[in-house]
Amino acid sequence: MIKIDQNLCNACGICSQVCPRHIPEMIDKDNEKIMKISRERIGLCMDCGHCMAVCPKDAIRVKSLSKEKFIEAQKPDIVGDQLISLFKHRRSVRRYKDKPVPREIIDKIIEAAHTSPTGTGRRSTGVIIIDDPKTLKELSELGYRTYEDLEKNLKNPIARFFIKKRIGKKTFDSLNDFVMPGMHWYMHWYREGKSNEILRDCPVLILFHSPINEPMGDGNCIISAFHAIMMAQIMGVGTCFNDLIPPVCNRSREIRDLLNLPDDREVYASITLGYSKYKFKRTPPRKLAEVRYIK
Ligand SMILES: Cc1cc2nc3c(=O)[nH]c(=O)nc-3n(C[C@H](O)[C@H](O)[C@H](O)COP(=O)(O)O)c2cc1C
Repeated sequence: MIKIDQNLCNACGICSQVCPRHIPEMIDKDNEKIMKISRERIGLCMDCGHCMAVCPKDAIRVKSLSKEKFIEAQKPDIVGDQLISLFKHRRSVRRYKDKPVPREIIDKIIEAAHTSPTGTGRRSTGVIIIDDPKTLKELSELGYRTYEDLEKNLKNPIARFFIKKRIGKKTFDSLNDFVMPGMHWYMHWYREGKSNEILRDCPVLILFHSPINEPMGDGNCIISAFHAIMMAQIMGVGTCFNDLIPPVCNRSREIRDLLNLPDDREVYASITLGYSKYKFKRTPPRKLAEVRYIK
């Protein structure tokens, strides 16, 4: 439900311009322009709050959004070069000090994750933070068991056929050609007590989950995770995306139970966090594969 206070509205039409579905619309009434809410499109409202945020007269209210929670807009006190420097200095950190990350710092990192955009405007992404060493250990063990079962199944032609059918050729090829050859060694080293390459002995793991039927839920999770990563960078906490964790969280009943992850949700992104054991002294060049304008 959206309401326009006609006593305040000056019919500038900006709310309509910024609304992705043009739900506020300008109409002529008695030779006067007024803004009204489109009855045909009101059901398409994504509760993004842009109309409320932009209105110069503060004349518009979206029922699901509380005005008190809006903050006055300010020019960010960070300049382009500082942001580029932040991006350039971020490294994937895969070795962590045996030192906990204080919850106040984790909370700040999560504050950044909250602010990420979402595909539909719905705020359906959830995070699970695991900073308890015992739970991380339990999750590791269950994760390795899941990958060990998978390796066994991939050796069986019938099971292999059904796995490929279930996950599709692209994911199967990535699993077969990229993930499992490395995982073979990871499992070996873990069972020998040499290292834990799945969780890399991180003190904190953050999982980003979304309803299975949320359009673009996977993208939402990745972007939210990236916001968290950049905030962590500012707070001096190292991070790494971890693509080995989400599949086991989704597949293993025991891990789902451990996380209390509802059946209608899946984990689409995960990041490991902690204080970096080593300091990167240089940043390598990183470039996109191609940049071009179309005339
Ligand atoms: C979507 C995504 C998934 C990733 N998954 C993993 C992963 O499972 N394990 C890992 O060690 N690194 C993972 N990474 C980190 C990349 O390997 C890393 O970005 C790359 O090696 C470049 O290093 P840099 O981040 O320090 O620039 C992932 C990165 C992205 C963007």
